Amino acid sequence: MVAVVRVHKTGGPEVLTVENVEIPAPGQGQIKIKQHACGVNFIDCYFRNGSYPAPSMPFIAGNESAGEVIAVGPGVTDLKIGDRVAYVGPLGGYAAERVFNADRAVKLPDNISYEQAAGMMLKGMTVQYLVNRTFKVGKGTIVLMHAAAGGVGLILCQWANHLGATVIGTVGSKEKAALAKANGAHHTILYRDEDFVAKVKEITSGKMCDVVYDGIGKTTFPASLDCLHPLGYFVSFGSASGQIDAFNINLLQAKGSLFATRPTLNHYAAKREDLVSMSNDLFKVVGSGAVKIPTHPYALKDAAQAHKDLEGRKTTGSIILVP
Ligand SMILES: NC(=O)c1ccc[n+]([C@@H]2O[C@H](COP(=O)([O-])OP(=O)(O)OC[C@H]3O[C@@H](n4cnc5c(N)ncnc54)[C@H](OP(=O)(O)O)[C@@H]3O)[C@@H](O)[C@H]2O)c1
Repeated sequence: MVAVVRVHKTGGPEVLTVENVEIPAPGQGQIKIKQHACGVNFIDCYFRNGSYPAPSMPFIAGNESAGEVIAVGPGVTDLKIGDRVAYVGPLGGYAAERVFNADRAVKLPDNISYEQAAGMMLKGMTVQYLVNRTFKVGKGTIVLMHAAAGGVGLILCQWANHLGATVIGTVGSKEKAALAKANGAHHTILYRDEDFVAKVKEITSGKMCDVVYDGIGKTTFPASLDCLHPLGYFVSFGSASGQIDAFNINLLQAKGSLFATRPTLNHYAAKREDLVSMSNDLFKVVGSGAVKIPTHPYALKDAAQAHKDLEGRKTTGSIILVP
């Protein structure tokens, strides 16, 4: 029997229940992982509160972890007992052990710790596609990143800066502003107190941004569109404050023939070859020190507190649960 965090009915953080369960042996094409660190992501809150429907009830929360292979099922040829692995995948992440499909796991290089991996597989691969594929960030790109001191935020600020962009980050407090600045943001805006469109105009001397990465949703829309120059890119990749209401597509014409997309990692990393190349790219920037992964550990049994803090805007960087 091992500890897991299960949800029996959707609701607030209190529905996260620590239980002991039997983990089966791995089946065809599967491995069993002893998990050393489990990532906490905003998407875990969407499943927990029911805004994303879980495929079954009850379910073990969590989509990301890192650990050691402790058993290998039939048909698995490229992983063996003792290998260090990490993954982003279906629910089942908040657990001391789990069974997982081998073809969705990746081997960890020696210079990446379990804690770093659990803090970055989902958030870091998301940044990988956001800055390289959804919009190609390069030298001179002007980027606006909302929640710049958050998990995705700190990684994106560093990565976009590394690619030569000018990075403007919105943040909820002065402490978060200092952290975002220490992690690649050139300018910060306290968007709870300041008009962020006016500040972007001032910072860019009226040029406005090439791309806005918006994981906030309801409270930053449609103002995010006003931070773009004509033909700019609005990338709505999350909804920490609630989903954006349906809007008339003519709004994009009125705001400057803008492009808008609502991407998700699952589609960008659907093919094994993409998963491997995206994770290798991530391991390279983190291994070189160009992007750091600040992690904040909670015990697995304190998952509910971790969710409270995440939704309460109290956290920065990546939260991980340690079984
Ligand atoms: N599409 C994808 O592939 C993908 C993948 C990963 C994550 N995401 C999305 O990326 C976003 C960030 O995820 P994360 O896990 O890194 O979380 P996070 O940024 O660490 O936490 C969310 C942050 O959003 C800000 N926020 C603003 N309004 C909020 C509200 N009403 N409630 C809670 N937070 C609010 C807070 O920062 P301030 O205090 O600074 O405002 C908070 O710290 C989420 O929307 C998530 O769904 C999308």
